[in-house]
Amino acid sequence: MDQIVIHGGRPLSGRIHISGAKNAALTLMPCALLTDASLTLRNLPRLADIDTFGHLLNQHGVATATEGSHPGEFGRTITFTASRITSTVAPYDIVRKMRASILVLGPLLARTGEATVSLPGGCAIGNRPIDLHLKALEALGAEIDLAAGYVRATAPKGLRGGRYTFPGVSVGATENVVMAAVLARGTSVIDNAAREPEIVDLCHCLVAMGAAIDGIGTERLTITGVDRLHGATYAVMPDRIETGSYACAAAITGGELELVGADAASLTATFAALEEAGLACAPTNDGIKVSRANGLHGVTVSTAPYPGFPTDMQAQFMAMLSVADGASLLTETIFENRYMHVPELARMGADITVRGTSAMVRGVPELVGAPVMATDLRASMSLVLAGLAAKGETVVSRVYHLDRGYERLEEKLSAVGADIERVSDG
Ligand code: UD1
Repeated sequence: MDQIVIHGGRPLSGRIHISGAKNAALTLMPCALLTDASLTLRNLPRLADIDTFGHLLNQHGVATATEGSHPGEFGRTITFTASRITSTVAPYDIVRKMRASILVLGPLLARTGEATVSLPGGCAIGNRPIDLHLKALEALGAEIDLAAGYVRATAPKGLRGGRYTFPGVSVGATENVVMAAVLARGTSVIDNAAREPEIVDLCHCLVAMGAAIDGIGTERLTITGVDRLHGATYAVMPDRIETGSYACAAAITGGELELVGADAASLTATFAALEEAGLACAPTNDGIKVSRANGLHGVTVSTAPYPGFPTDMQAQFMAMLSVADGASLLTETIFENRYMHVPELARMGADITVRGTSAMVRGVPELVGAPVMATDLRASMSLVLAGLAAKGETVVSRVYHLDRGYERLEEKLSAVGADIERVSDG
């Protein structure tokens, strides 16, 4: 297994290209199941999760054609064509690798009237049930059975428009029900829908394919089903979590980075908190410039559904705040068990106390490199950030977590002055 070795203490400076958003790509790809025409997605990041989702689609009968690209280029263009669905089963072997596999449930059901998807089970950051996905699909007339670790959804006479109010905000469940409702008979009204930019991206792609959706970007989505969707070409939005992560890299190292292709509008809460902590952020023609001239200060941040502060930025913030002046209070409201990076950061000298859903971070003058273990995707990035600032050598193992969500991490960071390399431990 590979490891990332970092010698910290160098302020980063230069330009970092922001890749296409993983979480947007993972909800745009299953849209290919909704039509027999071709869906071409541009700006897909080169990530393990994208490959895994591609394999899942292949085994449902989707043909994939990747446009030739040059080795140095970021992103890929892939055309997905589901002329015929050859299997409506998403097997355990793939779903267990990637929870986002549940996003084939709505599209398969809408297109064929049947879908059988392995239950994802628990994951490193908590229990993560799928009850809301199932209830929302039931509101469109789906019948749901659970047996032998699989969920089977059927709609023998097709889905029909329905009303559903989510009792809590769920990104994935909103995505599933939207993808199902676009082909349902009649109109669906979804209340308390998630408003994350990735959902806006999904809706825009579906509209480009011929769907009728009102209220995009609001908590009420009104979807009028159509008989058929057509093909489209659509570019995946820039990754806002990658953007926020590299902004934290500038902050923690005291550097200056231009985040090329970044979209500040999708990160308002994150940038507000970064500015409060002492990072200067300014739009440029190509993206956003972030720089830290003086020290960092402690801040109080609580995660919340969009437009609140994203849970996917909590771990990176914690690393950054561990070297800020004064104390910070972070509260995690979305997932239980999302503090697994805390003991690892503590091994590097961070002073963090977790009580329930909150973490008190008392800034220390300096972190010290150590061997640390990545536990999930964003936790891994927090360890890389800590390593970039720490004195001495940090070795991050279980790098496959990072490969799920950060395209060419070492290459991007080395290009702006980090001493970081990937080594194989044999
Ligand atoms: C997506 C993102 C993930 C991000 C999360 C919250 C993808 C591939 N992943 O995950 O990176 O951290 O949004 O912004 O886009 N819940 C239920 N029942 C359900 C569904 C969710 O109780 O049926 C709960 C979850 O346990 C969690 C909360 O709702 O506590 C939010 O989860 P959700 O928004 O669904 O997250 P994901 O879509 O899985």
